Amino acid sequence: MKHTKIKDLLCCTSTLSNVTAKGWVRTFRNNQFIALNDGSTINNIQCVVDFENTSADILKRVTTGAAIAVTGDLVESQGKGQKYEIQVTKLEILGDSDAEKFPMQPKKHSLEFLRENAHLRVRTNAFGAIMRVRSVLAFAVHKYFQDKGFVYVNTPIITGADAEGAGEMFQVTSMPLDSLPRNEEGQIDYKQDFFGKHTNLTVSGQLEGETFAMALGQIYTFGPTFRAENSNTSRHLAEFWMIEPEVAFNDLDDNMDLAEDFIQYVVKYALDHCVDDLKFLEGRLLEEEKSKPQDQRSEMSLLEKLTFVLDNNFKRVSYTEAIDILKDSTPNKKKKFQYLITEWGADLQSEHERFLVEKHFKCPVILYDYPANIKAFYMRLNDNTEPGRETVRAMDILFPGIGEIVGGSQREERYDVLVEKMKKIGIDEEELWWYLDTRRFGTATHSGFGLGFERLVLFVTGMTNIRDVIPFPRTPQNAEF
Ligand code: 4AD
Ligand code: MG
Repeated sequence: MKHTKIKDLLCCTSTLSNVTAKGWVRTFRNNQFIALNDGSTINNIQCVVDFENTSADILKRVTTGAAIAVTGDLVESQGKGQKYEIQVTKLEILGDSDAEKFPMQPKKHSLEFLRENAHLRVRTNAFGAIMRVRSVLAFAVHKYFQDKGFVYVNTPIITGADAEGAGEMFQVTSMPLDSLPRNEEGQIDYKQDFFGKHTNLTVSGQLEGETFAMALGQIYTFGPTFRAENSNTSRHLAEFWMIEPEVAFNDLDDNMDLAEDFIQYVVKYALDHCVDDLKFLEGRLLEEEKSKPQDQRSEMSLLEKLTFVLDNNFKRVSYTEAIDILKDSTPNKKKKFQYLITEWGADLQSEHERFLVEKHFKCPVILYDYPANIKAFYMRLNDNTEPGRETVRAMDILFPGIGEIVGGSQREERYDVLVEKMKKIGIDEEELWWYLDTRRFGTATHSGFGLGFERLVLFVTGMTNIRDVIPFPRTPQNAEF
């Protein structure tokens, strides 16, 4: 029988007769009240069973996790916090769930336990909410760029290019491991592994994206990317989704404007379209906060944090200014400040980034003009910098509680300068001949950035571990599902 989504039933403006809902039982109280959820909303619908006229055998099978169909009238509810409920006239068990064995019991589970059950954790309120918000955010990403006339480009997943030049790549092989060619020491010769060529899973679609921007004007990618970095942090995944717009004729300032406008748009979109889920997640966070000492509690609630990002411009600060601020913030050499000490030329550690965003500026920060030698080879060298203190037109966007959420730059459009740079750091010109063609034929100023989608979802949902905002996290420990 045709059924109605619980979300639609709960939004009704009048009672209805003879509706059917299908979903999974969350709880069953007093042999009478079923809390039913179908994933369309954070809210359950209460289904009131006529237990006197229902067989004991059926009632026994209404257990947490079971799939059921209920039919009856949608009537006004006497219960607290719910407008409507279903007075059940027909109850059908679609799929049993062994109450003893079902791991998602109606009680609070630790996030670690839930991670081990990634296939079932989505049946909890929190993960249902997170995954709906993630889906809405993905839609907002496409809507933003499509409305602005950007072309969506699917860049390859298997590629010969190391876009970031960082060597953090998963190798791809077309052959059984034991038949791979080996060198004299018996080690696998990865240069020969993909039908005779060297390939890996992409770390970024940027380089291919640039070639399309230099024809279509403004493009974006939105796809999975892979990093074989063995980082066990709450901000890193081995497989994550990245959004990478690339725009011909944009300089670094245009790039910052685009990134800021884009982030504010998608955050607003989530606020406008996921109110129930975000309020639930906010409540969950408030509960967590209560267990912390007063001085460690967050000053803002989740919705206040999201609104703050919309209402305030991101602070734009050069790397050099940031280093001066960090140096000034270490007025004495007391041990607890030691970690902030840094010198011009060094890459910023996450402590530095968090200090700038959370303690100093107290708002999202765009850091730009980084030292050339700590950034990727394709970034535009700034004109007129002091020898030994060369900087590139790079920008990173730092967010409270997250750290780096965006990395981007104006690209080096000058063929000679780019080739020189590649030579200096040992990147084989021949391997990137196609990339260099963009600089050979009709080169122009262009810029782009990459936004780590999971870091955005982390920010919007208020979660603190990146493993909790992607359906099936790939980390050094976890690639089972
Ligand atoms: O700073 P990254 O490495 O920049 C690039 O890949 C450029 N090619 C982007 C571009 O200019 N088109 O990565 C961009 C963003 C980071 O700011 C971060 O949000 C996210 O991708 N990111 C990760 N997210 C999760 N797990 C990881 N291991 C990540 N590495 C980067
Ligand atoms: Mg980066």
